[in-house]
Amino acid sequence: MFNNKVTEMLKIEHPIIQAPMAGGVTTSDLVAAVSNSGGLGMIGAGYMTPIQLREQIREIKQLTQKSFGINLFVPTEFNAREDEVQSANQLLNPIREKLNIPPKSDVEIPTFHHALEKYTNQIKVVIEEKIPICSFTFGLPSNEVITELKQHCITLIGTATTVQEALEVEKSGMDIVVVQGSEAGGHRGSFINTSHESPVGLMSLIPQVADNIRIPIIAAGGIMDARGLMASICLGAQAVQMGTAFLTCFESGANQVHKDAILNASEDETIITRSFSGKWARGLINPFILNMQVHEKNLPDFPIQNTLTQDIRKASSSQKNKDFMSLWSGQSPRLAKNQSVKTLIDSIISDVKKQ
Ligand SMILES: Cc1cc2nc3c(=O)[nH]c(=O)nc-3n(C[C@H](O)[C@H](O)[C@H](O)COP(=O)(O)O)c2cc1C
Repeated sequence: MFNNKVTEMLKIEHPIIQAPMAGGVTTSDLVAAVSNSGGLGMIGAGYMTPIQLREQIREIKQLTQKSFGINLFVPTEFNAREDEVQSANQLLNPIREKLNIPPKSDVEIPTFHHALEKYTNQIKVVIEEKIPICSFTFGLPSNEVITELKQHCITLIGTATTVQEALEVEKSGMDIVVVQGSEAGGHRGSFINTSHESPVGLMSLIPQVADNIRIPIIAAGGIMDARGLMASICLGAQAVQMGTAFLTCFESGANQVHKDAILNASEDETIITRSFSGKWARGLINPFILNMQVHEKNLPDFPIQNTLTQDIRKASSSQKNKDFMSLWSGQSPRLAKNQSVKTLIDSIISDVKKQ
């Protein structure tokens, strides 16, 4: 019922894309269930090694004949002085104490070179495994990467949080743009001005982007049901990308503590923070965010801060302690349900048909 350019380009029945969610949420069961239900499943591969990525792709191919996509983080240069990293690390030691984990003395700082090498190998896997759709966040792939992926007939999707970024995505030669409003859960995909939270809401953003670009738009941020889908289409998008709505589904790999926190949250309980990773991201407010708030503008950039907080997030998660976990969520948690992917997609489509 929504045949349009995006459904045609992505070869999907419904204009519903499951947001790639790096960090273990996008299990093979989740991705396959979305594609099998007529939407597009996506692997959030940002943190995966090329070997892990290949394994998951092969696993999903056993679970669905339908196409699915891969999402990658475009590496960006980052710098941090040794003393800045050490002092950011010191700030975390009292939290480590609360979690009964040892203080970290030796900090192994990730390098840009390492990030670039991983990304280059992830791209190789995408090509070798004949993945038809690849999306990117945190920046634009180089001309060489875009040309190479296009030579393999891969449909390319960029992420933008402003009109200017959407214009850059179009200019780079990518086929579709995900327009990410400030309501969105998880990391901001901003890449032009990354020093602030990129606070433009989706209702303002979609029509302004639509007036300025020709490539099709996928709307993201706070969309959970048929109302969000129809509103996005009215405003000028051709499809939606939903994260939080899929995160609380049975098939998602999110920690049950994370799912429960979203299922019990209200709309005013999320905040945009850079304390967990060094990059602005929206999640449920918890003691970690509040403790770090006074320092957050001075913390090292992504992925350094992300590396520093890794042991804390891991311990907090295995201790089922939501106080120090990154509880990424969009601004519509009251609309989240614990249900199967098929129920979620079927109910959206049946509600659209009732209108
Ligand atoms: C837990 C979580 C992880 C995310 N990880 C990624 C990611 O790896 N790549 C990406 O492009 N977007 C990521 N996002 C953002 C989504 O693509 C999308 O913009 C967002 O989920 C839309 O808002 P919603 O959560 O309110 O639906 C993530 C979102 C969440 C909630």
